[in-house]
Amino acid sequence: ERDLICHIKTGFVLLVALTLSLSVIYFVYDFSLSPVKDPHTWFNLVNQTQSYNLVTEGLSGKTFVWNFVTNQQIIQTTTAQKNHISVHHHVAHPSNYHFILDEPDKCSQNPFLVLMVPVAPQQVDARNAIRSTWGNESSVQGKAVLTLFLVGLTGGPEAQQQLEEEKSRQHRDLVQSNFVDSYFNWTIKTMVIMDWLATRCPQANFSLKVDSDMYIDLENLMTLLLAPNTPRQNYITGHLMWNQNVIRNKNSKWYVPKELYPKPKYPTYVLGMGYVFSNDLPPKIVEASEAIKPFNIEDAYVGACLKRLGINPSGAPDPSQFQTYMNNPKSHNLSKLITTIAGSTEKVVEFWLNVKGHK
Ligand SMILES: *[C@@H]1O[C@H](CO)[C@@H](O)[C@H](O)[C@H]1NC(C)=O
Ligand SMILES: *[C@@H]1O[C@H](CO)[C@@H](O)[C@H](O)[C@H]1NC(C)=O
Ligand SMILES: *[C@@H]1O[C@H](CO)[C@@H](O)[C@H](O)[C@H]1NC(C)=O
Ligand SMILES: *[C@@H]1O[C@H](CO)[C@@H](O)[C@H](O)[C@H]1NC(C)=O
Ligand SMILES: *[C@@H]1O[C@H](CO)[C@@H](O)[C@H](O)[C@H]1NC(C)=O
Repeated sequence: ERDLICHIKTGFVLLVALTLSLSVIYFVYDFSLSPVKDPHTWFNLVNQTQSYNLVTEGLSGKTFVWNFVTNQQIIQTTTAQKNHISVHHHVAHPSNYHFILDEPDKCSQNPFLVLMVPVAPQQVDARNAIRSTWGNESSVQGKAVLTLFLVGLTGGPEAQQQLEEEKSRQHRDLVQSNFVDSYFNWTIKTMVIMDWLATRCPQANFSLKVDSDMYIDLENLMTLLLAPNTPRQNYITGHLMWNQNVIRNKNSKWYVPKELYPKPKYPTYVLGMGYVFSNDLPPKIVEASEAIKPFNIEDAYVGACLKRLGINPSGAPDPSQFQTYMNNPKSHNLSKLITTIAGSTEKVVEFWLNVKGHK
């Protein structure tokens, strides 16, 4: 019985201690949001962290509050802050790049919807499959649609020449920027796409960022975009990803080190395979990205930019319209489908013929 009382006592003391420390942390955090003048050590620390918090707002959030318990971490934090400010325009910011091949007048016809397809320079087959299927549509439900491919640097002069020939031979649908085209640089590629839309095509109403192995049903997409309750601004939708853990397994394709993204979870974002957004967003995303350290998961990175802007990605009215893989497409009712991963160049064409054949 004495033992039991003893346990209860210990438990009570622990509970009080925990409540106290939580209130201290809460008090300090709360206080850090208002100007601090008192030169007391704690307040100094809070003051330092406060300015850091302002810089990384949207990425650090509340987890950060737990960081300033030891002096060591505060020093690290303030160093990071200095680097952050001096770099200002970090590696993913499009101001670091310029277009080698461009189509600056492509939007002179005021397209309603622009499809931007990131693709590797050598993927001619993928581009041709798109050119002969959904990329060949110039008008859907009476609205002008435009498809453009975005590539990075090629491996050498020969590949570069082929690319330029392809560009002049085809529909002048290639845009090239001067970053090294690799999987790790997908975030750069996405931000360059946003930059192109912001600077070359601000008059478009909506844009779709879509991977080259996707099947897109433009009729159904247009129906969604023209629906009266679809917002015209601050709107982004697709396959919603929420409460996603950051992958810390070094063998994973999606591994992100803590130094690049410290929080354990990503903000809500839309899966990168195909997301559609109102075209007021590209300049806002580019601007927000100035303050957000880049990491290699391009869609989650866009999610972090949106979070900073205070914009929540919307779920589609019918979430089944944004499919990822469909193991057996024949078992699905495809009549309302907007996106699905076709998986290969042949499958893109196959899907297209299949759906067209049923319409
Ligand atoms: C608090 O930070 C501001 C800059 O954000 C600085 O001007 C001021 O001197 C700091 N105050 C103290 C007490 O460190
Ligand atoms: C695009 O569609 C037109 C008909 O609208 C057709 O004549 C042309 O061959 C198509 N282009 C490709 C690359 O399939
Ligand atoms: C892009 O990726 C490659 C290899 O993954 C890397 O060497 C290069 O520095 C990256 N950055 C730019 C801006 O090209
Ligand atoms: C598209 O945007 C233009 C302005 O760029 C606007 O005048 C037009 O009404 C919009 N169209 C639709 C269908 O929302
Ligand atoms: C598919 O769904 C649409 C409406 O969502 C319906 O009209 C149609 O009959 C369905 N087709 C099949 C084969 O079930």
